[in-house]
Amino acid sequence: MRVQKAVVPAAGLGTRFLPATKAQPKEMLPVVDRPAIHYIAEEVDACGIRDLLIVTGRGKRAIEDHFDRAIELEQLLRKTGNPRLREVQRLLDRLQVFYVRQGVPRGLGHAIACAERHIDQEDFAVLLPDDLYLSPEPALAQLISVAEQLDAPVVAVVPVPAADISRYGVVAVGEEVRAGVFRVLDMVEKPRAEEAPSHLGVVGRYVLPPEIFAHLRRTKPGAGGEIQLTDALRALCHSRPVYAVTLVGERYDIGEPLGLLRAQISFALQRPDLRQGVEDFLAEVAKSIGRP
Ligand code: G1P
Repeated sequence: MRVQKAVVPAAGLGTRFLPATKAQPKEMLPVVDRPAIHYIAEEVDACGIRDLLIVTGRGKRAIEDHFDRAIELEQLLRKTGNPRLREVQRLLDRLQVFYVRQGVPRGLGHAIACAERHIDQEDFAVLLPDDLYLSPEPALAQLISVAEQLDAPVVAVVPVPAADISRYGVVAVGEEVRAGVFRVLDMVEKPRAEEAPSHLGVVGRYVLPPEIFAHLRRTKPGAGGEIQLTDALRALCHSRPVYAVTLVGERYDIGEPLGLLRAQISFALQRPDLRQGVEDFLAEVAKSIGRP
């Protein structure tokens, strides 16, 4: 596998975050002082990938504006010596960002299918912007190195408590081929807890071959009436070896309010300029918890 392109599906309606997402894309909700999708673009960049395709839809223009120059603002900031746009500029110098629109929200599998013309016959990475990681090695880089070594498609998984498993794509795994890497025997999208084939949930990072598009074309609507990437992967794992990689690091599901709050705190604690203030505040809150 050789990964030179990344796809980020960002057409979802963000209903779990209404009313915050009524007039702005959920991918633009800030984690500390960067929009969530900015961290995803940084992860892509950290893997040495230069070609990023974002699958958008109606109401997502702010994403395009974020990954664009802002000439008036840049001029103003230059005059006042303010460095705060430099980081976006640095990303823009390194990444070429493309867009395709998913006219109708028919599911994650359908969103990925919209990338077919752009990806053409290449292997590619998929990053779901609801999943952010804090890890010594970027989450996608961990996946890519396994995909390269085994020359096979891989999906990221983490152990998920039984009470939450029905929110995930779940893998049935066979042999552990190396530490934390399992052969995928089967997959099911959002199973009921008692039907889940394991406790390993798929979490937002994939390395896929171009033949996934043929499987997606044949995929009928599944869980929730949507075209599911998991169902296409299920067909793929029956036709060639696919592996599940247990990621090392902390994962944050920022697609729901508590997950976003946890991410805010953890990401802020990583910042030398904010760490002390956040620690002091958390200590204050901890003291007041349980007080009448
Ligand atoms: C998507 C995928 C699912 C995966 C999940 C976690 O579901 O369909 O397989 O486990 O992301 O990142 P969603 O959360 O968009 O419903």
